[in-house]
Amino acid sequence: MKDLDLSALIEARDGQKPETEPTLRANVDQLNFWYGDFQALKNINLPIHDKKVTALIGASGCGKSTLLRCFNRMHDLYHNNRYEGAITLYPEGDNIVGAKTDPMLIRLRVGMVFQKPNPFPKSIYENVAAGLRIRGINKRTILDDKVEAALTGAALWDEVKDRLNEGAYSLSGGQQQRLCIARALAPEPELLLLDEPTSALDPIATAKVEDLIEKLADNITILIVTHNMQQAARISDHVGYMHLGEMVEFDLASRIFVKPSKEQTRAYVTGRFG
Ligand SMILES: Nc1ncnc2c1ncn2[C@@H]1O[C@H](COP(=O)(O)OP(=O)(O)OP(=O)(O)O)[C@@H](O)[C@H]1O
Ligand SMILES: [Mg+2]
Repeated sequence: MKDLDLSALIEARDGQKPETEPTLRANVDQLNFWYGDFQALKNINLPIHDKKVTALIGASGCGKSTLLRCFNRMHDLYHNNRYEGAITLYPEGDNIVGAKTDPMLIRLRVGMVFQKPNPFPKSIYENVAAGLRIRGINKRTILDDKVEAALTGAALWDEVKDRLNEGAYSLSGGQQQRLCIARALAPEPELLLLDEPTSALDPIATAKVEDLIEKLADNITILIVTHNMQQAARISDHVGYMHLGEMVEFDLASRIFVKPSKEQTRAYVTGRFG
């Protein structure tokens, strides 16, 4: 049964994780969002715990990607889009969606990886160096060190260290996705957003990226969208279940997958509701 599988996955994980004091890295407070006249997010509240993995789940079209994109102000690329409410980034307390906040500065602090690997048509090295160059880092020795650190962090260094000047498109899909993760990690973001990062990957590449996400969460806060309940049970600490633009329930993964408080959540995680 699906419920039992998820419980077993949760148990397998929680045994390995020491309990730590929760610290907030970000907090979504009464967030509303409109694409023109269409309200895609309705009064969303969501805490994002520091150095934890928070997963957003819910049926197609419920607003997961829309919520994720608020965190790096991607919606600002279209001028009809409108935010109301706050996403506070701690410890500074800046409101990510505030009218006075510069989206460019936010994008330097919040990295994002998309569903399909989207490397730039450049060398492996230059893909990872890109965000550093935007930050004004051009000194070769510093770039070399940071590119190596990011590729190591993304579990790709050993596979590419002898071919850094080759084009990124010479890599496999799974390698390209880890390259995109390295590119997002290089500027040392405070928050990493992942929108269905493994849905275009085969099971082996998926397992590598999942392992990587767990390791990254030792040092960085991660917000991930996934359609895969097993994946969410394997890698997330907290889960938010969304439906029609609303946050139905937010809790520890162990509660959402084993004993959610709302019947609607249970129906979704057990696959009885699409
Ligand atoms: N650029 C846009 N303009 C207008 N409406 C949009 C736009 N992007 C998304 N929407 C609408 O906003 C709602 C939420 O979409 P969103 O992409 O956030 O869903 P999702 O939960 O990520 O779905 P999926 O699991 O299919 O990726 C949907 O009704 C969608 O049609
Ligand atoms: Mg989506």
